[in-house]
Amino acid sequence: MNPRHLTLHQMRIFLAVARHGSFARAAEALHLAPPTLSLQVKQLAEAVGQPLFEQIGKRIYLTAAGHTLADACRDIEERLERLVEDVAALQGVERGRLRLAILTTAEYVVPKLLGGFCAAHPGIEVAMLVGNRETLVQRLAQNQDDLYVLGQPPEHMEVVCEDFADNPLVPIAPPGHPLAGQRAITPQRLAEEPFIQREAGSGTRLTTERFFAAHGVRLRTRLEVGSNEAVKQTVAGGLGVAVLSAHTVVAELALGDLVALDVAGFPLLRRWQIVYPRGKRLSAAALAFKDWLWDHRPTSLASLQPTDE
Ligand code: PGA
Repeated sequence: MNPRHLTLHQMRIFLAVARHGSFARAAEALHLAPPTLSLQVKQLAEAVGQPLFEQIGKRIYLTAAGHTLADACRDIEERLERLVEDVAALQGVERGRLRLAILTTAEYVVPKLLGGFCAAHPGIEVAMLVGNRETLVQRLAQNQDDLYVLGQPPEHMEVVCEDFADNPLVPIAPPGHPLAGQRAITPQRLAEEPFIQREAGSGTRLTTERFFAAHGVRLRTRLEVGSNEAVKQTVAGGLGVAVLSAHTVVAELALGDLVALDVAGFPLLRRWQIVYPRGKRLSAAALAFKDWLWDHRPTSLASLQPTDE
């Protein structure tokens, strides 16, 4: 292998193909013509002297040489990012870049806090991705962002977790539901109702399923939908009950569009954490935002109280 023949452009293309598992999707994401992209990957494979991908069915996978190259490319990308940050740091916190990835539940809290932060530091360029637990854990494993607002990361991950705020889960129903206003409903009774669930990969869903499994009951999922908003709308529409983060339903509970049910064992108490890979050197902008989040963290949630009919 002759590394002098590798270019940064080729490495970025290669990482995009590896990430998307598809030449076509990587070409689309990078706005490149597919033949241009294939040529670059071919030249890269020639420089490495070994095939980088193998095709199984419709999907392509990295070979052992491909994995080794991907690790090296990520190291190089990270080093270049650090260079950008180091140069920015020379100009102080006011000129940095900040890449955030937050859970869909934190979408109801963090963007508001980000507004104040950006107003106080107008020179910082911010990108914020909102995703479910699975998406964020994958991005964290690949060190794609500066900071994550996440629940509990998987135990095997080498990360730093700093406590942020409560993220309790509450059972909700449409107003006028037969269980609304009842006291100390058992989990078994709630599980008799048709459930609206988030998509697989959602932390809300994982926690909910674990809770009911621990009580020896299986949920009857009537519908699976891909966002907290869609869950709320289908519950309000009378299709079933659901368990959601209390942060996502503050407005609906206050307006009476949804009611919180009094179910034994709820709220399920969880915390959001501010997470980043252990050993990562946080930029001045990331450090400043981390402090900002802590200083402005939400402390109370009125919507934890079950609704009286
Ligand atoms: P999610 O959010 O359901 O979008 O993954 C997870 C959480 O709040 O734990």
